[in-house]
Amino acid sequence: MLIPKASNSALSVDSTFASILIIEVILLVLVTFAMVFFVVRYSRKKREKPENIEGSMFLEIVWTIIPTLLVLVMFYIGWKSFDIIRRVPKEVMTIKVTARQWSWLFSYENGRQSDTLRVPMGKPVKMLITSADVLHSFYIPAFRIKEDCVPKMDTYMWFTAEEEGSYDIFCTEYCGLGHSGMLSKVIVMPEKEFAAWYGGAPAITGEMSGQKVLEEKGCPGCHSTDGTKKIGPTFKGLYGSKVTVLTNGVERAITADKDYIKRSVTDPGADIVKGYPNIMPKLPLTNEELEAIVEYLESLK
Ligand code: CUA
Repeated sequence: MLIPKASNSALSVDSTFASILIIEVILLVLVTFAMVFFVVRYSRKKREKPENIEGSMFLEIVWTIIPTLLVLVMFYIGWKSFDIIRRVPKEVMTIKVTARQWSWLFSYENGRQSDTLRVPMGKPVKMLITSADVLHSFYIPAFRIKEDCVPKMDTYMWFTAEEEGSYDIFCTEYCGLGHSGMLSKVIVMPEKEFAAWYGGAPAITGEMSGQKVLEEKGCPGCHSTDGTKKIGPTFKGLYGSKVTVLTNGVERAITADKDYIKRSVTDPGADIVKGYPNIMPKLPLTNEELEAIVEYLESLK
C-alpha cells in the first residue's frame, strides 16, 4: 500500500526519490545493454586473437563528464528538498518530543502533555526532539520526515500537516527490548477542533488523572491495561492479586497492594516480577501522582 503524502515535505521527498530512481534505471539499462553487446560482439568464437587497444582521450572525457554532471544533478535535487525540510518558518508552534524506553511524550507550549501527537492542519509545527535515555529516532512516514533523538541534546524537525487523519509514528533506531513496540500516532485535526482540544482542560477525576499520569510517564509502552503481555506485566487485575517476585534474587509471593505498587514505581528493581527483565527506569513521582496511579490500578480489576 502506498504511504499517504500528508505534509509539505512529502512531495519534494517523493520527487527526489523518483528522479534519482529514474536516473538509476536508465543507467542500469544502458550498462546491461552494453555488457550483453560486448559479450556477443567480442566473443572468443568470433575472434580468436584479441587486439591490443590504445587509450582514447575522447572516451575518457565522456565518461568523466557525464557521471559528474549526473551526480551534480542528483545533489541539486536532493539539496532543494533538504532545504525545505531544514528551513523552519518564523511563525511556528513548537512541540517538545521526549523519547524514552519505550514511548513518546509530547509537551505543548501551554503545558499540555500527551502520548499521542496532535497537530493542527495547515499550520507549521516545529518539533524539538530529545531523549531521556538512549538513542531513538522519531519517524513519521506519511510526513516523510525522520530525526534522531539524542540524550542531552536537542534536534529538530518541522512540517506542515496537509491531510486530516491519523498517521503512524515509529521509532527507527534500535533502543532495546521494547523498540518494536515504541509506536504512537500523529492526529492531524482541523484548526478549530485542535484549538478546542488544546485549550480544553484535562479531565481531573480520580480515574482519569491516574490514567493520565501513566500515559505521560510512558507506562503503556511496556504495560497493557487489557491483559496483553508486553515487556512488563499487565496492569489489568494486578491490584490485590498474588504476585511471585524476586527480591534480591530470592523468590517470594506477595500481594500487590498499595505499598507494593508504589515501591514498584519508585524503585522498580526492588521486587522484580518473576519472568520479567529488570529494565524499568526509576520514576520520580509526587505522592499525589502515586496515589492517582494506585487508584487507577484499583479500578482495573
Ligand atoms: Cu526507541 Cu527504538
